[in-house]
Amino acid sequence: YRIAVLVSGNGTNLQAIMDAIDEGNLNCFIEYVIADRNCYAIERAKKRGIKTAVLDKGLDLSDKILQIIGKDLDLIVLAGFLSILKGDILKVYENKIINIHPSLLPKFSGKGMYGIKVHEAVLKSGEKETGCSVHFIDEGIDTGKILLQEKVPVFFNDTPYTLSKRVLEREHDLIVKAIKMVLEG
Ligand code: GRF
Repeated sequence: YRIAVLVSGNGTNLQAIMDAIDEGNLNCFIEYVIADRNCYAIERAKKRGIKTAVLDKGLDLSDKILQIIGKDLDLIVLAGFLSILKGDILKVYENKIINIHPSLLPKFSGKGMYGIKVHEAVLKSGEKETGCSVHFIDEGIDTGKILLQEKVPVFFNDTPYTLSKRVLEREHDLIVKAIKMVLEG
């Protein structure tokens, strides 16, 4: 199986995917890692000899990504990717783009709800549990069909940082499990 991973940040989800492949826990090949900005995730990919591209955020970002990856990959994985895909790529890769989001969707989702902001909102809401979700990408923001979710407890003395760490650890398992599910059907 051949996949592309889209990133914007630290790349710990990407790292989890690369490690799973290296450990023989995931049977796929990462053809490209593409970012919408310079980020440490790109360094991680370069270190592992994966073809990378850093594109400008902008109107034609989705079309440029499609141009680079072509039409015959098996899956596109958004791993901390902060731009919104639109246009042809959504048609060519219909039901073949998954995203990981650090909350129990549909809670704490939508425009502007990403990264540490999600955990700030969870703490502010007084929720006793949160989690992470992998969902298919459609035209909306965090609105596609949910594939997998995992709950994570909120502790009384949590800060957004301590909560984000606890969720992120679970994301790393969830994203690998989700890729396996989609590729192996
Ligand atoms: C994390 O908040 C994760 O939940 C979201 O993107 C952020 C960074 O992930 N998907 P990563 O360390 O860049 O994989």
